[in-house]
Amino acid sequence: MKVISIINQKGGVGKSTTAVNLATALSKLNKKVLLIDMDPQGDSTDYSGIMEEQQTTTKEFLLENKINIIKLKSYDLIPADILLADFEILASSEFGREFLLKEKLEENNDFKKYDYIILDCPPSLGLLSLNALVATSIAIVPVKLERFSIKGIRSLNEVIKKVKKANKNLELKILVNGINLGFKHHIENLEIIENQIGKYKLKTQIRQDVSISKSQNETVNIFEFNSKSKAAKNYIELANEVISFE
Ligand SMILES: Nc1ncnc2c1ncn2[C@@H]1O[C@H](COP(=O)(O)OP(=O)(O)OP(=O)(O)O)[C@@H](O)[C@H]1O
Ligand SMILES: [Mg+2]
Repeated sequence: MKVISIINQKGGVGKSTTAVNLATALSKLNKKVLLIDMDPQGDSTDYSGIMEEQQTTTKEFLLENKINIIKLKSYDLIPADILLADFEILASSEFGREFLLKEKLEENNDFKKYDYIILDCPPSLGLLSLNALVATSIAIVPVKLERFSIKGIRSLNEVIKKVKKANKNLELKILVNGINLGFKHHIENLEIIENQIGKYKLKTQIRQDVSISKSQNETVNIFEFNSKSKAAKNYIELANEVISFE
């Protein structure tokens, strides 16, 4: 069981896109995957095609140890919705509040059957993201090749340094997302990443591909939408790279 956080406090960089499509790609490579939606926006729940309101979500899992695992075609899912936002307040007075997720995953043998547990984190560095980082061995940080996106990596790196005191195994991996080789500023920003944090950069890069937003409109993953798309190929590359870390 390897736990991977898809995390960046910056919004709209492709966390939910990566969580769903990496989960699907890993399952295509015969890995058993659980996706846990850690974001009150519930975007990866939505993108997984779950339309019905769920009584039991990540919130009840973390606070009451109630488990609702939805079995999908490619992976299993613990869903989230806006009520998960209450977690930050409800858990704030709990002892060991950063360790709730880690404890739940370690205590219950049902989770041991998964090869990978993928956590889709919210765009903030609050208690939900901290719970994810504490439980994680690899933090995949998607970044867009835009100035404001790159700027945020440094503050995330600071948080990771702090979390490493409680979780020594945590590794940071930067995923360049939405690259368009025809854009001069993308090439320039890629160079900045190479120079400043190149040692953390994943080999795989996800191309800018309109199939991604189209697949989200239809709430199907990129493979179901168009398995021949650039993005589908990139996500298989990413899954292979992730498997190579074992
Ligand atoms: N490689 C890509 N090519 C084209 N569009 C992309 C790509 N990756 C993501 N997008 C688009 O960028 C937008 C943001 O993606 P996504 O919701 O996955 O980001 P996020 O980091 O999860 O956002 P939030 O911080 O709000 O949770 C979406 O509209 C998505 O379709
Ligand atoms: Mg998201």
